[in-house]
Amino acid sequence: MGVHPVRGRCPHLCPPSRGSCRGQHALQPRCHTAAPRAPGTRRHHHAAAAEQAPVLRRRYRGHEDTRADHDRRRDRAVSLLEAVSVTRTFAGIAALHDVSLEVGEAEVVGLIGPNGAGKTTLFNCIYGELRPSRGVVRFRGRNIGSLPPERRARLGLGRTFQRIELFPGMTVREHLLVAERSRNGRGGLLRDLLNKGLPTPDERVRADRVLGLLGIGDQADRPIESTSLGHSRLVELGRALMMEPRLLLLDEPSSGLDSNERTMLGDVFRSACNESGTSILLVEHDVEMVSRVTSRLYVLDSGSVIAFGDTSEVLADPLVRRAYIGDVLA
Ligand SMILES: Nc1ncnc2c1ncn2[C@@H]1O[C@H](COP(=O)(O)OP(=O)(O)OP(=O)(O)O)[C@@H](O)[C@H]1O
Ligand SMILES: [Mg+2]
Repeated sequence: MGVHPVRGRCPHLCPPSRGSCRGQHALQPRCHTAAPRAPGTRRHHHAAAAEQAPVLRRRYRGHEDTRADHDRRRDRAVSLLEAVSVTRTFAGIAALHDVSLEVGEAEVVGLIGPNGAGKTTLFNCIYGELRPSRGVVRFRGRNIGSLPPERRARLGLGRTFQRIELFPGMTVREHLLVAERSRNGRGGLLRDLLNKGLPTPDERVRADRVLGLLGIGDQADRPIESTSLGHSRLVELGRALMMEPRLLLLDEPSSGLDSNERTMLGDVFRSACNESGTSILLVEHDVEMVSRVTSRLYVLDSGSVIAFGDTSEVLADPLVRRAYIGDVLA
């Protein structure tokens, strides 16, 4: 399969109609290296930041600005997540080849591709379970390549797994309470030994709110092993939502759900994005859900991005349909 250009944002992070790429080209060697000071490129960000630095310092000294304000401004200036030219090989065979992808603030972005295309491998590289053989992963403007998964989680990266991992013997609500303890830092063996580990009313309210959002409030006291696969998936999603992530990586969250549950899940994604500002990178085989909830879409095939852009345009593209969707929609 050759490279196919789809009109849309440049995967190398140049904005449309700027610099040398106009956001419409196929996956070429990095366009922003060819136009080093083009507005919107990383070098441009650095240059602009350098120009603004004295102003920021002055405002800090005058206590007109807080560190949180500064962080928020910095986050707006760069993408939430940038994977740049990520390559990952296993025994010399490339599972990912030169993959670039971007997720902005409060957007739901899809990532589709046939089995073995490299979707989960890319998630593992972003979350830190795997190190890319080449390439860079930035989150909130920071190169996170050397951070272990738990540090990435603390920065606001959350994920669910294709193969769910839950704890038999614990109830549905307890799964969420564990996540809540991890978020608020009140967990710990000593507290449990002193029998001070009981959930506070606030913690229960937060857990129940998320269970309500997921439509499984009535399952709260059930042991996890007695719930359906679909509900277990929702519990895992709930656990990730309890951490209040800035970006959620969801690996086939709808598998095992019936059509009502899928519809509800799509609504949960939209409300997490619109109401809490949580961005989502969604790996999903359910094309109907992808077209309903994502605004932009990347297509992976054999470890390479073969198309990207607005979801409706990408899904309508004949090459994409032939590579992946054709057999589903034909
Ligand atoms: N730990 C590993 N060791 C060796 N090869 C691996 C490893 N992990 C993934 N691969 C290979 O990398 C390729 C991409 O696998 P990956 O699981 O990322 O695909 P995927 O797009 O998530 O597929 P699916 O839709 O089936 O979940 C496959 O050929 C797979 O066999
Ligand atoms: Mg996978």
